[in-house]
Amino acid sequence: MPTASLPSLIFLWGFMGSGKTSLGKKVANRLGYTFQDLDHLIEEKEEKTVQEVFDDSGEGYFRLVERDVLHQTLEMKGGPFLISTGGGTPCYYDNASWMNAHGLTVYLRQKTGILVSRLTGQGGRPLIKRMPAEERADRIHEMITQREPFYLQAQRIVGPEKVSVGEILDKIEG
Ligand code: S3P
Repeated sequence: MPTASLPSLIFLWGFMGSGKTSLGKKVANRLGYTFQDLDHLIEEKEEKTVQEVFDDSGEGYFRLVERDVLHQTLEMKGGPFLISTGGGTPCYYDNASWMNAHGLTVYLRQKTGILVSRLTGQGGRPLIKRMPAEERADRIHEMITQREPFYLQAQRIVGPEKVSVGEILDKIEG
C-alpha cells in the first residue's frame, strides 16, 4: 500500500548516470507507486527516440516538449507515480519550482568522479555523444557544476556518500 502521507507524485532528480531509472524502479515498487520515466513519456508523445528529437529538432525543442510532458503528469491516471526525470529537467524553465509545488522532489547526488567514469566511456546519450571523447570528463564536470544549484532545490537530497534504495526510502519516508 502507498504510504498515506506521501504526495501522489514523487520526482526523482539527478545527473545522467546517477541511477534514477534503476533505483527509481525499485523504490517505486517498495512504496507501491507506479514508476514512470519522463524521457519515455516524451518518446511516446513525439513517436521518436530522445536522440531523434535532438537530431531532428534540436535541444531547444526537446526542452519545450519536456516541460509540456512534465505538466501533463498531473493528469495521468493510475498513480501514485514515482517519476524519473531527465538529467536536465530541473534546470530549465521553472521546472524545479513546478515540481516542488506539485509533488515531492528527491535529488540523487552521486559523486562527480562516479558520474564521470560511468559516462565518459559511453556515447549513448545525446548530450554526451556530441562531446569530443577527450573533452568529456571536463565537460561533464562543468555541466554538473552548472546544474548543482538547480538540483539542490530538491526537498530531499540522497548521497553522495551512499545512494541506495534504503537511503532513498529513508529520505522519502523520514
Ligand atoms: C538529459 C538527460 C537525459 C535525457 C536527455 C537530456 C540531460 O536523461 O533527458 O538526453 O540534459 O541531462 P537521463 O538523465 O535519464 O539520461
